Amino acid sequence: MNLFTQKLPIILKPFILSLFLSLLFLAFLSLQTPRHTTTTTTTTHKPDLQIRRGYSSYDAYIQRQLNKTLNPKLRKIWTTRDWTRKIQVFSQFFNSLKQRGLLSNGSKALCIGARVGQEVEALKRVGVSDSIGMDLVPYPPLVIKGDFHHQPFDNETFDFEFSNVFDHALYPSKFVGEIERTLKPGGVCVLHVSVSKRADKYSANDLYSVGALVKLFKRCQVVEVRNVDGFGLDTEVVFRKKMNERL
Ligand SMILES: C[S@@+](CC[C@H](N)C(=O)[O-])C[C@H]1O[C@@H](n2cnc3c(N)ncnc32)[C@H](O)[C@@H]1O
Repeated sequence: MNLFTQKLPIILKPFILSLFLSLLFLAFLSLQTPRHTTTTTTTTHKPDLQIRRGYSSYDAYIQRQLNKTLNPKLRKIWTTRDWTRKIQVFSQFFNSLKQRGLLSNGSKALCIGARVGQEVEALKRVGVSDSIGMDLVPYPPLVIKGDFHHQPFDNETFDFEFSNVFDHALYPSKFVGEIERTLKPGGVCVLHVSVSKRADKYSANDLYSVGALVKLFKRCQVVEVRNVDGFGLDTEVVFRKKMNERL
């Protein structure tokens, strides 16, 4: 006779039996449960191209750009102290593009957001005589008035477009769409951008990867990406419009 049948009061026997069965069931369950624990981490992914908040309207955005560009003291500095130094640096960039076969003396060229036009002057000095700049504020004869979200040029006008003001675009896809529209098939677009540090307080967007910029181009291919030292901008991205990309 065992202990269970012999000594326990009869009233406790069902209780002990159910306790034993429960323990057996729990042991079975623990064997079925996977041993490893899964940690779920929620990462909030920051987009690689962020539009800055704080512009209440398109007019407010334009006004902010104009506040700096029309500042008389700054205009004086840009057209005197900064003039020669900036032309020299831009000339080096354009000479290098010529050597790499991306720009030639016969190119019809546009500089987008050219302010007082040192980059246009540099193009002319390296031999690209058919060059013009565009900015919200004109600076004749080098720079004509225009908004890069709606370029004042016909489709397929230019062989070459240069800009170091992508960060000033409130609508980056329009900025790029207008370049693709006004570039001839086979034409080259060169952008100087900042991806490793934030651009200035007049910027309208922040770019955190070259990939996010490349994604905006629908009718161009990337030709080159390289590091540069261009007035606070660190990356040169070169695009070429596909030959079969007519409107
Ligand atoms: C950082 S500055 C660059 C000037 C010039 N590229 C240089 O390196 O000396 C930015 C320029 O972009 C111009 N800009 C800003 N928003 C613009 C827009 N929507 N259309 C055309 N130009 C614009 C400003 O007026 C300003 O001259």
